[in-house]
Amino acid sequence: MDFDRSIKIAPSILAADFADFGREIEAVETEGADWIHVDVMDGHFVPNISFGPQMVTAIRKHVRTVMDVHLMIAPVDPYIDAFAQAGADILTTHVEAGPHTHRTLQAIRSAGMKSGLALNPGTPVEAAAALLDLCDLVCVMTVNPGFGGQAFIESQLGQIRQLRAMIGDRNIHVEVDGGVDRRTAGLVADAGADVLVAGTSVFRGGTAAKPSGYGENIRALRDAADNAQGD
Ligand code: DX5
Ligand code: ZN
Repeated sequence: MDFDRSIKIAPSILAADFADFGREIEAVETEGADWIHVDVMDGHFVPNISFGPQMVTAIRKHVRTVMDVHLMIAPVDPYIDAFAQAGADILTTHVEAGPHTHRTLQAIRSAGMKSGLALNPGTPVEAAAALLDLCDLVCVMTVNPGFGGQAFIESQLGQIRQLRAMIGDRNIHVEVDGGVDRRTAGLVADAGADVLVAGTSVFRGGTAAKPSGYGENIRALRDAADNAQGD
């Protein structure tokens, strides 16, 4: 995985057909997805439950690009090896998930994965400052985690901008997750994001059997972001 700041569209399979993840992943990749974003929820750190490492292992063989696993669970440490075994390329933990985020990020890298750090909307970006040297990606949540299809929290744009400035020339991706659509894609790219997670706005208007709608959605997001990034 080489580092660059080109726009990457990462469809979140939380908005895909749960009974058909294999074909859904293959469909969005064929239609231009750069990464596949996989949301793991435990019904404890967030109010919703999605799936665990066994499902991630099962879908791995369908992912040809990058498997970007977003953990919305607490605790994290007991499950790091399971997600490494499952084949996660990037494993993202929340700074709010426990008191020892520094140790967790070290453990993620030691297990051979890229490390990601996610911040809830209520958490100031300064919370990432002392951890940046242990991060390959920082994810700014633009909704409260737990569900797809929520409204983009506009005030997070300032946080994205601040984070991008804090990162400077370090090789750390700025990911944005939640409510990214054709309108907000341009706003987040302009603020400094290079990885755009999108569930609803990718999977709406298509199916695995008729994926051209997915392609149209992915291209629209990329165009909006590319135009804003180039400004
Ligand atoms: C929210 C998840 C997101 C979610 C985004 O808790 O982390 O990845 O799937 O969904 P949309 O794009 O529909 O807001
Ligand atoms: Zn996510």
